[in-house]
Amino acid sequence: MRKTSVYLPDALKRRLSALAERRHRSQADLIRSAVEQLVEGDASSPAPESPVPGRLVGVGVGPGSADLLTVRALQALRRATVVLAPSTDLSAIGRAEATVREAAPDVVVERMTFAMTPDPDARRAALDAAAERTVELLEAGEEAAFITLGDPNLYSTFSSVVDGVRERRPGTPVLTVPGVMAFQDLAARAGLVLADDQQTFVVLPANEEAVCEAGGRVAELLADPACTLVLYKGGRRIEAIGERLQEAGRVDGATFGELLGMPGERVAPVSSVADRPASYLSAVIVPAVP
Ligand SMILES: C[S@@+](CC[C@H](N)C(=O)[O-])C[C@H]1O[C@@H](n2cnc3c(N)ncnc32)[C@H](O)[C@@H]1O
Repeated sequence: MRKTSVYLPDALKRRLSALAERRHRSQADLIRSAVEQLVEGDASSPAPESPVPGRLVGVGVGPGSADLLTVRALQALRRATVVLAPSTDLSAIGRAEATVREAAPDVVVERMTFAMTPDPDARRAALDAAAERTVELLEAGEEAAFITLGDPNLYSTFSSVVDGVRERRPGTPVLTVPGVMAFQDLAARAGLVLADDQQTFVVLPANEEAVCEAGGRVAELLADPACTLVLYKGGRRIEAIGERLQEAGRVDGATFGELLGMPGERVAPVSSVADRPASYLSAVIVPAVP
């Protein structure tokens, strides 16, 4: 036996003392068991994978809450030799970066700017620059992880980055790490079942006016009571969405979630928020009628 001394904060020391009394064991005995569990747990966990030079990995970091970032995502972030984060400006912390910063403050990111503007030329130029920088890193033998909100395979900049990289560097190996999607977080927070039995489930981007106007795609899908409809990107169109819900008699249960897991988060019935535009980071779930 060898002796090890540890300093414990007062509050922890008090709780340890109370636990020892309850369990009729010495504090030293409890500390020894805890250290044994820690060391054994570490020895039985799989050895971390090595980075693959030249591989691009899309890592979904979930919608915003740090505790929805998966263990696999954390492993991918720590394995990568460079972590890329989309942002609107080199001096602005994007939402995905903020989530990673909270969940894994040790992970350092390199920002890539993406133009959030309707101007297609500006968007193309930003995407080209991002693809070129990514290729440069991959050619230098890095494993590059690109972080994205939610899942990298659903409406994510990651797929455009992959296209740009593969145009310039065909055959680039690409891996994705799934992330929790915003509608999953919203369903859980609101206690909604997304679909059951023979019900269908549709995710629709609602950023275009035509989609949300009377007779548009939203109205068409709402006409089917067995369809659960999730609307993404529709913050600016929430008033029109509210009108379509009224017309279809689907207001009950229709739930709005904004900035989930982030400062300013709101979860509310659509009927209570549809009087003014909401943030781009908002999603709506219209549950199928049981
Ligand atoms: C570019 S898409 C990204 C989707 C993401 N890849 C996913 O898997 O959920 C952006 C849309 O996702 C939804 N979204 C993403 N994060 C969100 C959040 N934290 N709160 C509410 N909606 C969110 C919004 O509808 C937003 O307009």
